[in-house]
Amino acid sequence: MTSLAPQLIPTCAELATAVAQASQQGKTIGLVPTMGALHAGHLSLVKASTAECDCTVVSIFVNPTQFAPHEDLEKYPRTLKRDLELLADYNVDFVFSPSADEMYPAGCSTFVDPPEVARSLEGAFRPDHFRGVCTIVLKLLNAARPTIAFFGRKDFQQALVIRRMAEDLNVPTNISVQPIIREPDGLAMSSRNQYLSPEERAQALVLSRSLHAAETLVAGGESDAAAVLAAMKELFDQAGVTDIDYLSLACPDTLAPVQTIAGPVVALIACRVGATRLIDNQILTPPPQI
Ligand code: PAF
Repeated sequence: MTSLAPQLIPTCAELATAVAQASQQGKTIGLVPTMGALHAGHLSLVKASTAECDCTVVSIFVNPTQFAPHEDLEKYPRTLKRDLELLADYNVDFVFSPSADEMYPAGCSTFVDPPEVARSLEGAFRPDHFRGVCTIVLKLLNAARPTIAFFGRKDFQQALVIRRMAEDLNVPTNISVQPIIREPDGLAMSSRNQYLSPEERAQALVLSRSLHAAETLVAGGESDAAAVLAAMKELFDQAGVTDIDYLSLACPDTLAPVQTIAGPVVALIACRVGATRLIDNQILTPPPQI
């Protein structure tokens, strides 16, 4: 495969010029927003973008406003050189890698108030997280003016929040949500997996295992959400993972908790394995009613 390094763009003004030129040539623009430390999950979004759009922009920006003061902003992996090398094999046109001052210049004081669906789950445990996510995503959408923006389903709530924001604020971009990419043993790909020690990496398999157990129970006809959650919790206890923010069965559109499973529900997990906070989710589908 011939590799062609993408053009590295550091400012919003240069990005606007680059995508305006592509648009004038009649090209569709795909945007893949990331915080870097790219893995196969990100690359699946890049592949979707290059398959569906004529010109692909990957943004790499560790967004400070979505981290709480006690979170991992400082230690979040920053691997720009390696990320650019990886992207060279994927037909990416532009990598937008701005500084924090470029995205939040002195005096910048406007933030997006996230939609209702941001309140529970991640929103309850990370109170300003979605305010930061919505603000940066809207700024990236305004800077890149994409036809389609690509996000991963691993951040299930984030995808719902961004879809709702785009609809509510009349953003003329399609939001495409792509499947979770997992390691062969089931662990969902995440830039934070590299924080895990080998023992923690083994313990972390409880997330995907408990989702699989829940899927099997629901597919077998279990309709009591409390029973499914109890079975999942039992697996966490056995794995010695006790620092759980939430285990939830919820409506896939609103994230309202479900008591009786009468249609597809989403199982969502957030927990800490050692000091590393991990999330995962899966749609659970009951058997058809006869
Ligand atoms: O999912 C992420 O990596 C980030 O939340 C995003 C969408 C790039 C915004 O910083």
